[in-house]
Amino acid sequence: ASTALIPERNKSFATINSDDISYFKKVLGGRGVVQDEEKLDDANTDWMRKYKGSSKLMLQPRKTQEVSQILDYCNSRCLAVVPQGGNTGLVGGSIPVYDEVIINIGSMNNVLSFDKVSGILVCEAGCILENLMSFLDNEGYIMPLDLGAKGSCQIGGNVSTNAGGLRLLRYGSLHGSVLGLEVVLANGTVLDMLGTLRKDNTGYDLKHLFIGSEGSLGIVTKVSILTPPMLSSVNLAFLACEDYLSCQKILVEAKTKLGEILSAFEFLDINAMDLVLKHLDGLRDPLPSSKHNFYVLIETTGSMESHDKEKLEAFLVQAIESGLLTDGVVAQDINQASSFWRIREGVPEALLKEGATYKYDLSLPPEKMYNLVEEMRQRLGTAANVVAYGHLGDGNLHLNISTQQYDDNILAKIEPFVYEWTSKQRGSISAEHGIGLMKASKLHYSNSAETVQVMAAIKKVLDPNGILNPYKVLPTPALSQT
Ligand code: FAD
Ligand code: MLT
Ligand code: ZN
Repeated sequence: ASTALIPERNKSFATINSDDISYFKKVLGGRGVVQDEEKLDDANTDWMRKYKGSSKLMLQPRKTQEVSQILDYCNSRCLAVVPQGGNTGLVGGSIPVYDEVIINIGSMNNVLSFDKVSGILVCEAGCILENLMSFLDNEGYIMPLDLGAKGSCQIGGNVSTNAGGLRLLRYGSLHGSVLGLEVVLANGTVLDMLGTLRKDNTGYDLKHLFIGSEGSLGIVTKVSILTPPMLSSVNLAFLACEDYLSCQKILVEAKTKLGEILSAFEFLDINAMDLVLKHLDGLRDPLPSSKHNFYVLIETTGSMESHDKEKLEAFLVQAIESGLLTDGVVAQDINQASSFWRIREGVPEALLKEGATYKYDLSLPPEKMYNLVEEMRQRLGTAANVVAYGHLGDGNLHLNISTQQYDDNILAKIEPFVYEWTSKQRGSISAEHGIGLMKASKLHYSNSAETVQVMAAIKKVLDPNGILNPYKVLPTPALSQT
């Protein structure tokens, strides 16, 4: 169960009745109207098993037109809805808070076109990220994003959370690589913004409003995305540093010495490493001769193997000689590389197996980042395990506080401290996971009151009845003031 304070159910929302069910059955042609308790239980529960809704209905449309008819109807009946993709979100955004109708996009999973010259992929929003990766693999391209949830998360969910992940350092955020979207608004209007152009300065670029708006402004039904070519030479090094200052120095060295071939720079501390080795089957410590305080993964991707290897080797030799690195190993084949990635990508799963997790996803100046982790350890003492990892190359810390079960006394020691600390640094309280339910009342720590008011005004224009993903993203008072 979650310890988050949640707003009361909005009384202006209707509850579903048998006429509603008959209407949805008609629209969906008798299938994709889910009332089965077991299936609903899964769809009502988030990946972390921290948030739980009580929806009695999940709809699984297969076409944009069906999404449009559903929303038009829900809007006129004032039935609240929650858009859902792979349900891997980490901020309680993808599940209902009360009895909202779940609109799951997973049945809209076709690739619509791929241009082999430009690398532009157009697909439906329910395509699973890993399936898109496999599709592109055959075409000699890759997705510009990669994340641990790739086996379940959907591109529509990725776009709606503006997911970052392991490749952002090289290929930038989805605000850069998403070229177009098709979106259905709360009243059923279909916005065709499904362009495939790199350059298009014709008026306000509205698609950006929907990238990262977590289903609160519209439902994404189609995505057009620029994909990079697959390069032939990929190397992955698993490295050890004794202190956090060395991790920072290695980052600067990697950016300057590896330059254009640097494609990922990730870190995990010893607490994260220990958890992964404890909970994930079949994983071995790549550097078993001794324990280290910090581990760094550096990936290079380029087009000429001999050049890339030479560069990486020179970089590593110098880093070892100068004492920045205390140990390290370069993956010898694709299997070893995936086992290294599994260690980094497996931290959230290991945390889940350990017990309850208070999860914070912060953008902070890299030089200050680990101070917060150390201060948190001092505050909590032996009451919790403070675990740190993340996308160091992007200034993104994943600060996770692991306990046996959720406890309000522990929460009171973490919050608002963690948000105030981040705000003082002008950091972000959500680097990549979004706001969802977890942080809707915390938005002010990273945004001025005026900014939040403009956000609420935009929400009001696009969704005047507030039916789309209520209680999420925006604080409830900000909405009632508009
Ligand atoms: P869901 O969880 O179903 O939904 C997420 C939000 O988007 C919700 O608010 C939902 O209402 C909305 N939404 C979903 N689909 C649509 C749609 N079609 N239209 C409108 N709104 C929609 N995130 C990162 O940024 N980087 C990472 O490295 C990363 N790694 C992860 C690793 C693991 C193991 C897990 C469990 C999660 C990770 N995440 C990461 C969290 C991340 O947000 C999601 O994995 C992913 O982007 C969500 O996609 P989804 O399809 O599961 O969306
Ligand atoms: C990650 O980078 O592993 C993800 O964002 C998930 C997490 O933070 O737990
Ligand atoms: Zn992450």
